Amino acid sequence: MTQDEQKQAVAREAIRYVVDGAWIGVGSGSTANMFIDELGRIKPRIRGAVASSVKTAERLKSHGIEVEELNNVSDIPVYVDGADEVTERGAMIKGGGGALTREKVVAAVAHRFVCIADASKLVGVLGRFPLPVEVIPMARSYVARELVKLGGFPAWRMGFTTDNGNVVLDVSGLSIVDPAGLEERINGIAGVVTVGLFARRGADVVLLGGDAGVRTLVPGT
Ligand code: A5P
Repeated sequence: MTQDEQKQAVAREAIRYVVDGAWIGVGSGSTANMFIDELGRIKPRIRGAVASSVKTAERLKSHGIEVEELNNVSDIPVYVDGADEVTERGAMIKGGGGALTREKVVAAVAHRFVCIADASKLVGVLGRFPLPVEVIPMARSYVARELVKLGGFPAWRMGFTTDNGNVVLDVSGLSIVDPAGLEERINGIAGVVTVGLFARRGADVVLLGGDAGVRTLVPGT
């Protein structure tokens, strides 16, 4: 299967996790986009969706799916999103598309995080993909210096502004053996809005594409 066929397969499989009559949390990126297209086929079954980015909201609406503000929704049984890297334990790097903060917030509200990814995203140790960190603009240089102290090489994602009006530093050179510890450490730097490490609240289910079809990993078991 090609990478796109794998994304398609996991997007289709994720429909099995959708809870009828409920709100669904929807992530961002190319794999999440395929999930949105699948969701469009079963839209009468759901109450509506909470989007993790402006682009996702637009795509959901283009399918006629009602999009609700997170502030008006208290119960999201399932959140479905892609990842830039994921381990078998469900820890992820996210934010390649820059939507990490809203993704983390919607994921925090959801009871179950279903990660959908092609096989290339599975890694033993996180960090080959540069770790995105969303930062308020005036703190960019300070946060970059602090990230260097942690052993990383931050690069400013030039010309990019998040949906929240912030900037992103992409940090390469990290070998992340303790994802939850590093998540907490980076979140503690003044000026950091969100680090794209999703470990303290990782995936509950990982649907992984591959030549032999979709593999289902349940990290907590
Ligand atoms: C968006 O900000 C990201 O977190 C995406 O979930 C991640 O980059 C995966 O995107 P793809 O599905 O396009 O690889």
